[in-house]
Amino acid sequence: MSTVAVRWAVVEAPSNIALVKYWGKRDEALNLPAAGSLSMTLRDLRTRTRLEWRLDEQGEDAIEVAGRPLDARGRTRALRILDAVRAAAGLRARAVVHSTNDFPTAAGLASSASGMAALALAAVRAAGLDWSLERVSALARLGSGSAARSLHGGFVEWRAGTRADGEDCVAVRLAGPEHWPLRLWAVLCARGPKAVGSTEAMRRTAATSPYHEAWLAQVGRDLPVARAAIARRDFDALAAVAEASALRMHADMLAAHPAVLYWTPATVAALHVVWRARAERGLRAFVTIDAGPHVKIVLPPQPAPGEEALRAELQRVDGVEGIMQTAVGPGARLVEGGER
Ligand code: PMV
Repeated sequence: MSTVAVRWAVVEAPSNIALVKYWGKRDEALNLPAAGSLSMTLRDLRTRTRLEWRLDEQGEDAIEVAGRPLDARGRTRALRILDAVRAAAGLRARAVVHSTNDFPTAAGLASSASGMAALALAAVRAAGLDWSLERVSALARLGSGSAARSLHGGFVEWRAGTRADGEDCVAVRLAGPEHWPLRLWAVLCARGPKAVGSTEAMRRTAATSPYHEAWLAQVGRDLPVARAAIARRDFDALAAVAEASALRMHADMLAAHPAVLYWTPATVAALHVVWRARAERGLRAFVTIDAGPHVKIVLPPQPAPGEEALRAELQRVDGVEGIMQTAVGPGARLVEGGER
């Protein structure tokens, strides 16, 4: 009789961009957010992860991203996911993980959402657990909050939940990518890693910004508005709520002490370029910005005349390193898996 020594899975998971932002935790250890958030899944920024459970092997998990060991911070987060799967599946096993991104990690585009979502799905599927994507989202959240939103395709809402154990803090799919194939341009406004990590920046904001309670209350009002705009495919309504959500999140950070400011001069210049194109030429586009300097521009499904001029203008902005074009895309998926 042959015994199984290795169980493995290869998965792919996408990145996502929040339209109603997540900024502030109600529990840091479990990465539970203080409010819900809403995102769209991105088509072209994906992580592919191969994970092997080496059954009955002792020793440390090996986790590599693009051929290099994962850094200490990432490793601590990844181990939360691996330990949770070992406990749930009753596995005595060491994990060997290889991960690659189909976008340049060094460009500073978020890779933790796609990376932690891929790790969670690979660990679960390789362990033979038949968990729903909602349940996998709660696991991915242990690695990075925004990763919870990267399991589903299309438009996704991550519910804050109220339970202390976080079991009701899961991401649900609102609509698939075919519902409304919005496009996105990521305007790269700096190189290199960000100065302050999002966990530290959120902690500082919650502790010192006098606007933080107002921010959290606003999220509660924005979520139903964004949900309804997506259901109706109402671009102007989504633009209004999403752009305001991003700017209010940054206002909350700016009100922290010491202030958290991710923007560079190129960020501000790109914002003005988009706003001018909208005001003067009626271009339909809105802006969102995460915990970094890059400006993400959301555009309707059909390209409009005038977009090329906008792109050329953005490329001329001092400090803009490039523009990446993508669109709403599908969710995470198992590519292959098995045992030997
Ligand atoms: O969970 P993290 O560490 O990726 O935090 C994400 C925070 C923002 O990107 C700024 C907002 C969001 O909702 O994605």
